[in-house]
Amino acid sequence: MPTKTTEPDIHKERRKFLDRCLKWTGTAASLFLIYPLLRFLGYRIPPKPRYVTVAAPLPLSGYHAGRDFILFTDQAEPFAVSRTCTHLGCRVSYLEDKRIIECPCHQSRFTRRGRVLHGPAKRNLPALAVEIRKKNDGTIKNYVVTL
Ligand code: FES
Repeated sequence: MPTKTTEPDIHKERRKFLDRCLKWTGTAASLFLIYPLLRFLGYRIPPKPRYVTVAAPLPLSGYHAGRDFILFTDQAEPFAVSRTCTHLGCRVSYLEDKRIIECPCHQSRFTRRGRVLHGPAKRNLPALAVEIRKKNDGTIKNYVVTL
């Protein structure tokens, strides 16, 4: 009959500790492998919305070109479009005399509402939400554009 050997307690504790380390290392390695896989499959963590406040009234031209958007307030309902060209990402500009938005890189043209008039861009400029904040007397205090 084989004799039963018993490990001292310190060896059992060491083994438990090493087992736990191995499990945590395996979990961390799995996460490092899963994240690139999810990115490859198209999963994106949605960015937090950014709010930009534009003080009213705007100039008589009726538009405001911010760093990331162009806000138009000369219509009954204000609206804003992104300034990032949908072709390769250059910053578009509003040409007031022609009343169009144009990209300086490859001359894509868009309507004020961001619809493509002329390529190479194929997708419209994204429309951005605009909120109107009013004063107590009912006049417009400012516009808040959500990016
Ligand atoms: S980046 Fe705007 S047209 Fe190419």
